[in-house]
Amino acid sequence: MTRRAGIIGHPVAHSLSPVFQSAAFAHCGLDVVYERWDTPIELLAERIQSLRPPGLLGANVTVPHKEAVIPLLDELGGQSARMGAVNTIVNRDGRLFGFNTDGPGFVAALGREALFEVAGKNILLAGAGGAARGIAFALLEARAAAIAISNRTPRRAERLAREVGGPGPGVRAVPADSPLAPYDCIVNCTSVGMHGGPDPSGLPLALTGARDDALIVDIVYAPEQTPFLREAGRLGLRTLGGLPMLIYQGALAFELWTGLSAPIDVMFAAARNELANRAGASQ
Ligand code: ATR
Repeated sequence: MTRRAGIIGHPVAHSLSPVFQSAAFAHCGLDVVYERWDTPIELLAERIQSLRPPGLLGANVTVPHKEAVIPLLDELGGQSARMGAVNTIVNRDGRLFGFNTDGPGFVAALGREALFEVAGKNILLAGAGGAARGIAFALLEARAAAIAISNRTPRRAERLAREVGGPGPGVRAVPADSPLAPYDCIVNCTSVGMHGGPDPSGLPLALTGARDDALIVDIVYAPEQTPFLREAGRLGLRTLGGLPMLIYQGALAFELWTGLSAPIDVMFAAARNELANRAGASQ
């Protein structure tokens, strides 16, 4: 019997998940179709209910529904309850389990693709939205020594630091122009630099003063080479783009659905191929 999975969001037309998840299922010889389930908020409850029959593996959840799905699920796993956001739903015999693989995917991408171990490191996040939030939780869970958050709107950074760090000393908000010398890793968690975003040619922060051995990370994956990463390269700094985070969050979801280890290389190849096709089509 063909089984099904899909991505729930609004809109989902441009999501890369169907591309690399389908490639992963096919590579592993699994008869699973992965669909785009565009779901406006008023149809969300019905959509989630539709995941319960046998033959439904589960779903990914994306913007704007990562918070709204929570009360519609039966149980929350991993850090998703603390984070207040779910990006993966797993159907286990009609019961729906919510997980969040965004932050863990980011940490896995750092470790596997940049050989950067988070434990003990001092990390700066630029941005204070949902993406920064997931990453901050996962970095703490992976025992980062300290996390600093800077943002165009400082009070959002302060609020996020309070929410993630609680009363402990490990997470703090810093001004957008604070010195970069303390940081082992600097991450763009804003949409600056994103193709079609609010500021596609801008930089989330100036990299002046970053340490020679700092790792510069962008979570934006389209384009793969963002202005921020180009600037880091010009300064001779090590970089990691946003595609690995996307692939590893998907790989963790694949593993939750199937119990198999995800074919990472196949997923990367499928995603890169699609991005190249899209870049060609938009020229
Ligand atoms: P996401 O869930 O993708 O993180 P979000 O919650 O809308 O999306 O957050 C977007 C982040 O990008 C925020 O940190 C936002 O800064 P503000 O909190 O000041 O809005 C940041 N951002 C978006 N456009 C920006 C721009 N042109 N310059 C600087 N930061 C920007």
